[in-house]
This record gives sequence, structure tokens and C-alpha cells, in this order.
Amino acid sequence: MSRLVPATEMLKKALEGKYAIAQFNINNLEWTKAILTECQALNAAVILGVSEGAGKYMCGFNTVAAMVENMMETLNITVPVALHLDHGSYEGCLKCIEAGFSSIMFDGSHLPFEENIAKTRELVQLAHEKGISIEAEVGSIGGEEDGVVGMGECADPEECKKIADLGVDFLAAGIGNIHGVYPANWPGLSFETLAKVKEKIGDLPLVLHGGTGIPADQIKKAISLGVSKINVNTECQLAFAKATREYIEAGKDREGKGFDPRKLLKPGTDAIMETVKEKAEIFGFEGSAAK
Ligand code: 13P
Repeated sequence: MSRLVPATEMLKKALEGKYAIAQFNINNLEWTKAILTECQALNAAVILGVSEGAGKYMCGFNTVAAMVENMMETLNITVPVALHLDHGSYEGCLKCIEAGFSSIMFDGSHLPFEENIAKTRELVQLAHEKGISIEAEVGSIGGEEDGVVGMGECADPEECKKIADLGVDFLAAGIGNIHGVYPANWPGLSFETLAKVKEKIGDLPLVLHGGTGIPADQIKKAISLGVSKINVNTECQLAFAKATREYIEAGKDREGKGFDPRKLLKPGTDAIMETVKEKAEIFGFEGSAAK
């Protein structure tokens, strides 16, 4: 029996409770352990995001699913955990459904709209037959993610309604958000678009991609307007790299057995746990497992 749960219920509760669940992307064993351990300490439900590139890096979706399942057992993780494909292709979605993921995202935002509709419709049915939750995307998110470059569009609310009506469990709508570090001249989130999308889709939880570097006041406003899931990846990468660099620059890898990967990667892992804690405060997800 899988320990993983679909993300549907945790996001429904977040929408009602006016907070957001975090999707933290995982890239290796250390990150996964850090995020699960910290979320358990915060008694928080969590979504572990896996991009297609990260899945490949971690030796395939079967390996990832087995790692997360076994880690949950060994670490005695009892908070709700969803294992979610991030920005999946059609083929990637099929693979993750087979591999035992509990949630998928089909990103058809770069396809002609009718094709996005047709493929999303098909995947909704396949996912729901297996009790898996599914996210879809309208209006591509800017920045670069695994070689896919979006221009930070604002989604068309009518298109959002059409995709929502296919029965997806949550929807990523572009509102000027972008992946990675925001440029200095970034105009901020389009709350006007967000409000219009919300009006069209009603009680469907909305997803905000590109959670790194959005000022806390904009995050809180987005949550108040119906965002219930916020994705964070780059911020963990930056924290991990900075802590590792400081460890090496301080020469600690040359002291005793400081070069041992278990020591070398510990500051970075601790930095990820700190990032999770900071996000818990801004997104309000601490204690969400008990809600
Ligand atoms: P950041 O890398 O900007 O945090 O965005 C993550 C994300 O949206 C993954 O889908």
C-alpha cells in the first residue's frame, strides 16, 4: 500500500483555510530527506515536485517513487505527502502514473489550445481512474525550466474555465510569474488576471509557479485571491549552493573528514530545512496536517 496521497484534499483544505501548501521540488536524496523531515516537524502536508529532468537525474520515476516511499517509512513520516510530476509532457504523465506517483501536472501550455484541451481531457480520465490528482496549465510561466522557456504570459480567463471544466484538480494560470530569479524590472503579479481567473473557475484551487523571490506581501495577496499551492525550487537551490560554497571556502572540507559527503552536504541540507521553515511562515502551512 502506498503511503503517498493525491494533493486534492490538502489543497481543498488550504483554499478553505486561506493558506497555501508548498510544492518543494526535489533533486536528490538529501533534499528529499530535508524537506520530509522539516515538514514532519512542522506537522505540515507537502507536495514533492519532480521535473522530468530531475526524474531523469535521479535514475527515473520508479527510482524516485521507491526512494520517497521507503524514506517515508524509515523516517516515520506521517504528514500527508503527494509525489507530483512537475511540468510533465504527455508521455511523462503516463510514466508517472505507472511509477506510482500520486499526482501529476500536464503542461500543455505551449501546445495549440485545442491540443492542450484534448490531452488534458485524456489524462484527467487516466489519472482519476487511479486516484491520482492532476494539475493543468494555461498561459505559460516565464523563465526557463528544464530547457522549456516561457514568456511569463497572463492566462486567458476563458481558456482557464475551459480547462477547469475538464475536471482537473488544480490549475496553474500564468499571472506574470516566472521561474527562477526575478529580474529587477519585474512588474509584479497581475492580481487583475488572478481575480478574473478566479471569477471564472470558482472553487478550484489555483497554483502559483515561480515561488522563489516573490515578495511576501504579494504571496499573501495571491493566497487571499484563491492561490492554494505555491511551487518553490530555485530558492532551495540558491540556499543549498550558498551553504555548500561557504563550507568549502571556510576550508572545512580540509578539516578532519570534512570531505565526507555526509559532512560536505550537511550545511546545504540544513539550509533547505531553513527555507522550508521560512516558507511555512509566509504561506501559512504549518500544522496543515491536522486541519
Ligand atoms: P522557482 O524555481 O522559481 O522557485 O519555481 C519553481 C516552480 O514553479 C516549479 O514548477
